[in-house]
Amino acid sequence: MGGTLNSTPCKCMLLFVFILILRAILLPPLHGFDGVEWSNFVFIRNHSPASVGVRQDKFLEVPQIVWGLNNQKIAFARACLTARLLNRTLLMPSLSASLFYKEIDLLQPISFDKVFQFDKFNALCSGFVQLGRYSDVLNRTQVLEMQKGSGRKWTVERDLDQLRQHSKGSSNDHEIIRIVGKNPFLWHDHWPVKDYAKVFECLVLVDEIAKEADRVVSRIIAVGNTESMEKENDSSSIQPLPYVAVHMRIEIDWMIHCKKLEQRLQTNQICSSKKEIMERVGNIAGLKTPVVYLAVADQLLKNSSILEGWQEGFLPFEKKKLGVDGIYSKYPYLIQSAIDYEVCLRADIFVGNSFSTFSSLIVLERTQKMIRMGIDDMCQTDVRWPSYAYNIAGESNGPMRWITNMSDSSLKAISYGTDHISC
Ligand SMILES: *[C@@H]1O[C@H](CO)[C@@H](O)[C@H](O)[C@H]1NC(C)=O
Ligand SMILES: *[C@@H]1O[C@H](CO)[C@@H](O)[C@H](O)[C@H]1NC(C)=O
Ligand SMILES: *[C@@H]1O[C@H](CO)[C@@H](O)[C@H](O)[C@H]1NC(C)=O
Ligand SMILES: *[C@@H]1O[C@H](CO)[C@@H](O)[C@H](O)[C@H]1NC(C)=O
Ligand SMILES: *[C@@H]1O[C@H](CO)[C@@H](O)[C@H](O)[C@H]1NC(C)=O
Repeated sequence: MGGTLNSTPCKCMLLFVFILILRAILLPPLHGFDGVEWSNFVFIRNHSPASVGVRQDKFLEVPQIVWGLNNQKIAFARACLTARLLNRTLLMPSLSASLFYKEIDLLQPISFDKVFQFDKFNALCSGFVQLGRYSDVLNRTQVLEMQKGSGRKWTVERDLDQLRQHSKGSSNDHEIIRIVGKNPFLWHDHWPVKDYAKVFECLVLVDEIAKEADRVVSRIIAVGNTESMEKENDSSSIQPLPYVAVHMRIEIDWMIHCKKLEQRLQTNQICSSKKEIMERVGNIAGLKTPVVYLAVADQLLKNSSILEGWQEGFLPFEKKKLGVDGIYSKYPYLIQSAIDYEVCLRADIFVGNSFSTFSSLIVLERTQKMIRMGIDDMCQTDVRWPSYAYNIAGESNGPMRWITNMSDSSLKAISYGTDHISC
């Protein structure tokens, strides 16, 4: 035995087998990302760069992505999935830093990689979707323009047909296909929720913004600890207070919009007044002295009345009272929104409106987080990371428990709002 072990090839072989075994033991299964696993494996065996999956010499170009953070995320994912269908790399699109969407010159384009990590995105989404840079393009003259249709006659089927046509024949040979027309958020949707979720999982904030979100979250936790210490004399029994993030949609323009929506859908479960939100959040079972972070649009900050009227024991904070308004005010709208999104994502409990896209995307990511943790019954009472919808009454006049139905066949429910919230 000793003799054979001393030969160099044998040592290498053993080492190789050992590494493979170690790798199998140590690497957790990647959730739904067989692409990464697979291309890694190919890399080890063939020593060739990850060339599986999406073509990296054919590109898709899409119009600038606009509107709120949530709409932009959905539009971006839709552009990625369109590129995937065409087996093309998506040329890194421009996002929009501001919310002024009526006047084009006020759109303030901001490069994707100023908000999300470019390389991280490609690494996490490898084999599924890919982003490319304009410098990767060899011949800019080989552009084929593809006009998205519009109007009632432009059905989902026709749209899909157009995409399929462009993924074969001579269209397929053009180096770039440029889609002209409406912003991707308004394109027809052809993909299940799971596919969108995969793309969202690859979106990681750049360090600068992530650090700002960390600062806000630390502030909230620090407030919870201080309050907890004041209540308890025995320092050994100090438990940090839970933090609840409430995405309050009570701005005037939302109220006008949601009233119209309620009329159209013949329901009264969309608009919630400030009073109703406070009441329902106050009725969440087992919640006694939480720190409540109020994620509200900026204009509302001047009006401190959102801090009044909360249940006894609740510690409501908005950006100003928390002393973090300075962090936000440095940034344009999109980044402020991205920080708030992160703060809501990490909260012990999240409460939002099921007709808000912002709330819906947060619940989608929180649902994924629960799935990753292997929680079976995500609707039971005592789970970690629960979410609620305050616009729908649940048990004992609290808000309704809310998870995303990951087997839904389209993202419609999330982009347009729903009162079917699974729990
Ligand atoms: C995309 O094209 C590459 C290269 O031609 C191929 O290997 C791959 O299977 C294609 N992917 C899909 C999803 O068709
Ligand atoms: C770019 O494409 C055009 C049109 O197909 C062709 O005429 C031209 O020679 C190409 N240029 C290069 C540098 O490949
Ligand atoms: C905490 O301890 C101090 C001094 O030991 C005492 O005066 C105070 O009443 C205690 N407070 C509570 C809430 O127990
Ligand atoms: C704050 O909002 C309440 C209604 O939510 C309103 O009654 C009050 O006048 C507002 N205060 C200020 C200072 O705008
Ligand atoms: C989730 O969506 C699937 C597909 O649309 C549907 O069959 C199922 O009933 C939904 N589940 C819940 C709990 O709503």
